[in-house]
Amino acid sequence: MIRLRGLCRHFGGVHALDGVDLDIADGECVAIVGDNGAGKSTLIRLLSGADTPSAGTIELNGRLVRFRSPSHALAAGIATTYQDLALAPRLSIAQNVFMGGELLLRPACFGLLDKQRMRREARGYMARFGFAGADMDRPVSDLSGGQRQAVALARALRWRARVVIMDEPTAALGVAESRMVLNLIRSLHEQRVTVILVSHDMDDVVAVSERVVVLKRGRKAGELATGSVDADALAHVVMSGTIPGVAAVDG
Ligand SMILES: Nc1ncnc2c1ncn2[C@@H]1O[C@H](COP(=O)(O)OP(=O)(O)OP(=O)(O)O)[C@@H](O)[C@H]1O
Ligand SMILES: [Mg+2]
Repeated sequence: MIRLRGLCRHFGGVHALDGVDLDIADGECVAIVGDNGAGKSTLIRLLSGADTPSAGTIELNGRLVRFRSPSHALAAGIATTYQDLALAPRLSIAQNVFMGGELLLRPACFGLLDKQRMRREARGYMARFGFAGADMDRPVSDLSGGQRQAVALARALRWRARVVIMDEPTAALGVAESRMVLNLIRSLHEQRVTVILVSHDMDDVVAVSERVVVLKRGRKAGELATGSVDADALAHVVMSGTIPGVAAVDG
């Protein structure tokens, strides 16, 4: 579904990303790990349209894409959630789910929003993450971090995203909320949405991903099947940047 070839992002002399090849299949849950400064966020920013590559290509379903902005990527089916989520806390759940793509009443009533339908559909999206009973008029500021992630993901579904990228989704969350977010990822996976997870938490990575891609200093150090390692072994791989049986990235 996604094919990256020779992807580079240079900032002056800094090679934040340096010739990364990566293939991701439809419906896969892939984790991207690596030490601080390895290039994870840079890679995500290129995939999500927040930044453009210095060199290399991104293909989506066999077609070359050049995203000009995150909304361009979203329209192509790639949604990204960040820790701060870019939600509007004072607006309701329903308003956040439909932000930037509100439903209108029939064209005859030009400019009037179809609030009832947005509430109903927002409830449907939230139900897919186990929040069927939530009041769609509640402001997002009332919600917990985990519930806010659900709103951000409901927004991705509203845009019919086929790929959801999550950069450190549990970084600021407590134990119970992190567990909630892992369940959200599992339910995206059950809905056959492709998930790309960036995380420093190896327990999270082991819990939900099928494959782990290890970055080191802007290069791909290698990949491994998640089932073949535990969190401790993975943490060691991240620190050393070497994968057993794979030649080390030099430098
Ligand atoms: N806008 C920028 N200008 C200059 N250098 C940058 C810029 N963005 C990233 N870099 C550099 O590129 C490298 C990769 O950064 P990136 O943010 O992708 O790392 P990361 O793997 O996400 O790290 P972390 O785990 O700390 O979030 C770092 O050396 C960083 O300093
Ligand atoms: Mg980062």
